[in-house]
Amino acid sequence: MKSSEIRRSFLEFFESKQHRIVPSAPVVTHGDPTLMFINAGMNQFKDVFLGTGTRDYKRAADTQKCIRVSGKHNDLEEVGRDTYHHTFFEMLGNWSFGDYYKEEAIAWAWELLTEVWKMPKDRLFVTCYKTDSEAFEIWKKYMPEDRILYFGDKENFWEMGETGPCGPCSEIHFDRTPDKSGKNLVNADSPDVIEIWNLVFIQYNRKADASLENLSARHVDTGMGFERVCSVIQGKNSNYETDVFMPLINKLSELSGKTYLNDLDDPDSIAMRVIADHTRTLSFAIADGAIPGNEGRSYVLRRILRRASRFARNLGFREAVMTKLVGILVDTMGDVFPELIENRVTIEKVIRGEEENFLQTLDRGLTKFDELAKLSNNKEISGSDAFLLYDTFGFPLDLTELIARERNLSVDIAGFNQSMSEQKQRARAARKSVSQEVETIETDSVSTFVGYDTIETTTTVEFAQDNKIVLARTPFYAESGGQMSDMGMIVIGKDIYNVIDVRRVGNAIIHIIDKNAVLETGTKAIAKVNRTRRLDIARNHSATHLAHEALKTVLGGHIKQAGSLVHPDYLRFDFNHFEKLTDEQIKEIERIVNEKILSEIDIETSVLSLEEARKDAKIKMFFGDKYGDTVRCVIMSEDFSVELCGGTHVRNTSEIGLFKITTESSVAAGVRRMEAVTGRGAMEFVGTLQNKIQELTDEIGTMQKNFRKLEKDISDIKREAMEKEISQSTHEAKMFGEIKVIAKQIDVDSLDALRDAAVNLRDTLAHNAIVLLAVVIDEKVQLACSVTDDINGKYPAGKLVGLAAKELGGGGGGKAHLATAGGRNIEKLPEVLENFIGLIEKL
Ligand code: SER
Repeated sequence: MKSSEIRRSFLEFFESKQHRIVPSAPVVTHGDPTLMFINAGMNQFKDVFLGTGTRDYKRAADTQKCIRVSGKHNDLEEVGRDTYHHTFFEMLGNWSFGDYYKEEAIAWAWELLTEVWKMPKDRLFVTCYKTDSEAFEIWKKYMPEDRILYFGDKENFWEMGETGPCGPCSEIHFDRTPDKSGKNLVNADSPDVIEIWNLVFIQYNRKADASLENLSARHVDTGMGFERVCSVIQGKNSNYETDVFMPLINKLSELSGKTYLNDLDDPDSIAMRVIADHTRTLSFAIADGAIPGNEGRSYVLRRILRRASRFARNLGFREAVMTKLVGILVDTMGDVFPELIENRVTIEKVIRGEEENFLQTLDRGLTKFDELAKLSNNKEISGSDAFLLYDTFGFPLDLTELIARERNLSVDIAGFNQSMSEQKQRARAARKSVSQEVETIETDSVSTFVGYDTIETTTTVEFAQDNKIVLARTPFYAESGGQMSDMGMIVIGKDIYNVIDVRRVGNAIIHIIDKNAVLETGTKAIAKVNRTRRLDIARNHSATHLAHEALKTVLGGHIKQAGSLVHPDYLRFDFNHFEKLTDEQIKEIERIVNEKILSEIDIETSVLSLEEARKDAKIKMFFGDKYGDTVRCVIMSEDFSVELCGGTHVRNTSEIGLFKITTESSVAAGVRRMEAVTGRGAMEFVGTLQNKIQELTDEIGTMQKNFRKLEKDISDIKREAMEKEISQSTHEAKMFGEIKVIAKQIDVDSLDALRDAAVNLRDTLAHNAIVLLAVVIDEKVQLACSVTDDINGKYPAGKLVGLAAKELGGGGGGKAHLATAGGRNIEKLPEVLENFIGLIEKL
């Protein structure tokens, strides 16, 4: 059976048992900052088990994309070195939500494995939780007692995490030892006897105090390793030998010219397995909206990619190679996971960009590694050296560890962490002094922020120290979430204190003022925010939300905010993207934002619980951001932009005025930066542009003038040179009796110049002279003939030039002393000049 048939038959089997076939959840989790990637089929049903959510079906089955590279379930180190662990895999699962229980779960598992898939019964072992005699008794109906084994908490009590739904489980293991002697290898980490299916009987909730509480309903949660089951059904002893992996491995073999061996020790084959596995992980994660980067989930992906890059280097690749496997993955799995097809170009580009980026430092890093290893007498990579490899050459710590392990070196992890935290401290120390100053303030004052509704309020002083004042109520927004603080003034009696910065410490909003103030708690004060600055900031903040959404529309769903600054003069937005924006893209982003501005959309805010916000896929939340229990949502027309945000915004998009992108650049690998202006900033920008245009126009005018002068100078110089040449050529004259004859080609750039030269020469010669000058301009011969007055009655220039032109396939004529003509036959010109005396003779 092909893998696609195996997957289909699993789903059809459970469909025939009245299960709803549901799609896989995206492997990248959205709105759950505690989980980086989906790591089990049941993740998407967590709420049903906990009783906080419901579905309109009681039985479900699916194939779930899973990634296990971080946290509790992490299989990264095993990948490539054994036959059955992966960072990405599919988990086939069936569920009962308070419906059927052990009896049916076991019966159907047995039916599918032995009747539909015809697995030999004497190759199957099952395990039960030590106290679960109920499961044991059910299994006895299907197999001899000596194939049913009891295990303890570690193996047979499945828990989702520290707390949450859990219960005893029963696992099915497949024995591939030649003589079916694998009983002792069950749960022994052996490739010969592997777990293929886990049936979990969810009946408890693990509470924070570690006690177990009975759930009101009992559920079934099963998970089967798809790639493992394929290896069993296809009679292979390795998942990599199945048709799930072989197309990728064959391509790698073809590209590298190395042979793939089903051998756990062959370095080339390990490399091919790792690259095939990691390419799948990266492709599926990127298809679901993640992107390699510097933090959190993004950094996990970057680590995986760099690890694979290094294995590719071992295979001899010097250029990006994973990107070349994406097409094969799309071809083999796109029908089941269409997101691969939809995002193919993005996946290829992101992977290629990341690979190429790392290849720039990989070789130098490897050389550095060798040097460092040698310096330590091949004993240990010190913490500071590991940090150097990380900081300068982009080696994630686990990559350094991997290379070190291969060479029997150790790595000083504690030292690495020390260097890392020292760097963070240095960065922190370099940050604005005002933060430090403010942090030294100790006050438990509580300020109420009223600035969403008003910019001026009457209030009282809560606390004052040096140049810092805390008010009971304040309309001043404290710098936060990238939005700069308000400025303005606090009026107390006759005194005016200018507010130059505002910070929040704990529950207090601290106004930093321009002088020291000695004030008693309870003193009356009027707090006035500078309206102009507030509005400038609000325009830029609202425009940031619109721009974020426009970037997603134009560049793709992978766009995520990587940093933001909302300044009164401009906005700056960093986002994950792998290449420079084109002029068209920039124009399109501007167009969309300005369109939304012109549509006069009301901007509304609503406060909701974090739980509600998480459930709404439309709401932009930022992974890794800490949110309180209630969050504020900024909504600009339901279907366009909805974002969690505490900032101050305009009330209607039309107030933004005009949105104009001023720069687009790169800040780090895979991170672009856009700066833009709105309202007053845009007006200023346009004004500056206009001035620039005026300056340029003036400059071009001056340049044009200079150019014309230069042109004239050049032509004067040429003419002078020509005159010189002509006066010198008087002694080149041939004699026709008493008459001096000059016939030659000269280099001038116009007919006028040619004529002038002919006149000039005639005047110089003065008596008894005939001159014929020629020039080739635009593929045509131009002739000018001049004859001195004493003989031009007998030898008129007009006639002479006509005769010469005729020879050149043209014609012309003129006065007796000066005439011009033209001809096309350039090749004949030397002959005509040479024989000019012959033409004169004809006359
Ligand atoms: N949740 C169980 C597992 O992850 C069964 O699906 O193994």
